[in-house]
Amino acid sequence: MVSFPDLEKLRSELLSRIEAARDLVALEQVRIAALGKKGSISEQMARLGTLPPEQRRELGQATNAVKAAVSDALEARKAALEAAALDERLATERADISLPVRLGPASEGRIHPVSQVFDEVIEIFADMGFSVAEGPDIETDDLNFTKLNIPEEHPARQEHDTFYLRDGGPGDGSNRPRMLLRTHTSPVQIRTMLTQPPPIRIIAPGRVYRCDSDQTHTPMFHQIEGLIIDESTHLGHLKWCLEEFCKAFFEVEEVKMRFRASHFPFTEPSMEVDIDAAAIGKPGQWLEILGSGMVHPNVIRNCGLDPEKYQGFAFGMGLDRITMLKYGIPDLRDMFAADLRWMKHYGFLAVDVPTLAGGLSS
Ligand code: PHE
Repeated sequence: MVSFPDLEKLRSELLSRIEAARDLVALEQVRIAALGKKGSISEQMARLGTLPPEQRRELGQATNAVKAAVSDALEARKAALEAAALDERLATERADISLPVRLGPASEGRIHPVSQVFDEVIEIFADMGFSVAEGPDIETDDLNFTKLNIPEEHPARQEHDTFYLRDGGPGDGSNRPRMLLRTHTSPVQIRTMLTQPPPIRIIAPGRVYRCDSDQTHTPMFHQIEGLIIDESTHLGHLKWCLEEFCKAFFEVEEVKMRFRASHFPFTEPSMEVDIDAAAIGKPGQWLEILGSGMVHPNVIRNCGLDPEKYQGFAFGMGLDRITMLKYGIPDLRDMFAADLRWMKHYGFLAVDVPTLAGGLSS
């Protein structure tokens, strides 16, 4: 027989069990014990059916009130436990995004100093408004030499120690042009002038090849070409541009530079440029870093442009040399030895992308 005191006892017992549930699993057990099919409240409900109608109505209302109170308490406790569980997760799973990047296997890899210097040089010239142009490593004799005002019998061809490819050329009878491994990045000047109307302002980084190998020469090395063609660029612009480049590249306020008269078939006048190695802590020592000059009228004409109207400057810089200077690398040949210990020492982390704003080398 159900009674009001029974209901009151049931209610306070269930409410205190709900309050005592320490986690969601315990709470679910209380819910099942009360409201589940065989739960204590469900059983009371079932028993109501056996009572006479008078009693059933009164006790029914009271039982329903207990059921509602227990349901509300379950709901509230559940919300509180869920909030507490979330708080705990937030506290333990917190990610501190200001912590330094965790070093993992990916951090073992290194960017080769030459690649780093390519990126640095491109960053500096891009900031001056140059865009990057490219040409193939396997080049025609015509673009590598003839169009650059170096005709067939020119002595400069000997100086270049060229690797020629076996087929092509006059002796071959195939009608194919004579091919070679480009000896400098200057053919990219020609490719650009042939395909792009002035004003032109490009740099062309890349690999070049000469049949030469000793302590200070490797058969493959790297150059970066620069070219400006428009109607007004003059030698003063060339000097300014190279001076600004050197200051930015060596990350110093002042660089002493020496422009020496020289000769290249594709520039007139021509200058070789030395820098005072004080910039890199060796004062009094001049180091040659590039060849440059005003683009020769013949070259402009060979590309179908009018040298009376267009003029400009070009330069070609050895990348490997300035890489060694800047990063204190003593031996050129180590640069191409693929020695992991060397890479670990002189290489750069992939995440340290050089930018003018963030610092080129730091
Ligand atoms: N191409 C020349 C070399 O490899 C360098 C150079 C480029 C000189 C452009 C003048 C102008 O030696």
